[in-house]
Amino acid sequence: MEKKISCVFGKPIKHSMSPILHNSFGKKNNICLYYKAINIRNKILLKKEWIKFVICGGIGVNITIPYKQYAIKLANKLSYRAKIAGAVNTLIINKKNIFGDTTDGVGLIRDLNRLNINLLNKRILLLGAGGAVNSVIQQVLDLGPNKIYLVNRTLLKCKDIRNRFNLKNIIQFCSYDELKNKNAFDVIINGTSLSIKKDKINFNNNAFKTTIAYDLMYSKYITKFLKFAKNNNAKIYDGLGMLIEQAAETYFLLNNIRPKIKNLHKKIRNLLNNNDKKKYY
Ligand code: ATR
Repeated sequence: MEKKISCVFGKPIKHSMSPILHNSFGKKNNICLYYKAINIRNKILLKKEWIKFVICGGIGVNITIPYKQYAIKLANKLSYRAKIAGAVNTLIINKKNIFGDTTDGVGLIRDLNRLNINLLNKRILLLGAGGAVNSVIQQVLDLGPNKIYLVNRTLLKCKDIRNRFNLKNIIQFCSYDELKNKNAFDVIINGTSLSIKKDKINFNNNAFKTTIAYDLMYSKYITKFLKFAKNNNAKIYDGLGMLIEQAAETYFLLNNIRPKIKNLHKKIRNLLNNNDKKKYY
C-alpha cells in the first residue's frame, strides 16, 4: 500500500472534517494516507510548519482560514484560478515546484449545482472580502449573475476586488450600514469568518427577505449567519457540501484519482452532528 502524508493548516481547525474526507478517499483508493488537521497560531508558525512538512516528505497540504491569502507566498507556481483569487487552499509539492491552487470556487459551484441554486441573472450579496470571497468570486461571476454586491467592514478590500475584476457594471460594493437602503437579494453568500467568532451580527435584515442564504462555513450547529438568515425567512445552506466538493478536487490534484462522493453528503453530515469522526476511517 502506497504511503502518503498530507494535512490541513488553519485556525481554528479542531472542527475540520477534511481529515475524515481525505483519509476515507485514500482508504477507498488503497492509499495509506496520513492526513492531519494542524492548528497554526500565526503566520510565522505557518511557514515553520510548512518547511517541516516538506522535509518530512509530504505530498501537499490544504490551507484554510485565515491563511489562504498569506499562503500564496509559499508557492512558486500558481494555477490560473489561484492567481485570479490571490489565494490558495492547496499547495502541492512537485519535484521542482511548490504549486499553489484553489479548489474553493469549483467546490462552491458544484455544491450550488447539487442544491439546484441558480445564479444566472440573480442579484447576489457577497459578504466579506478576505481569502474565502476572493477564492470564489471568479466562479460566481462565471455563473452569470445580474449584480454582485460586495459588503465588508473594510471597504478598501471590496474596492480592490472590484478594480481587479474590472466589471464595474456587475460588481458593486457598499458598507453594512448602506444595506438598509438595498432591496432584497436573491442569494446571499457569507464569506466572512463572523460565524466562527464571538462577534454579534449587526447588519440590516432588509436584504434577507425571501432569499437563499449560503454560508461558506459549516458547523455542527447552525452558524450564526444562517440563524440570522433563517430568522429572516431565508432558505439556508451551509458550506459542508462545498467542503466535500473542494476536498474531492484537492484529492484529485494530489493523487491523480477522482474520489467518488455521491451519497457522501448525508454520511458526513451525520458524522459532524454526532461528533463521531474517528469511527469513519
Ligand atoms: P478568510 O480566508 O476566511 O477569508 P480572512 O482573510 O481573515 O479569512 O477574512 C475574514 C473576512 O471576514 C474579512 O472579510 C473580514 O472583514 P474585514 O476585512 O473587514 O476584517 C470578515 N469578518 C471577520 N469578522 C467579521 C465580523 N464580526 N463582521 C463582519 N465581517 C467580519
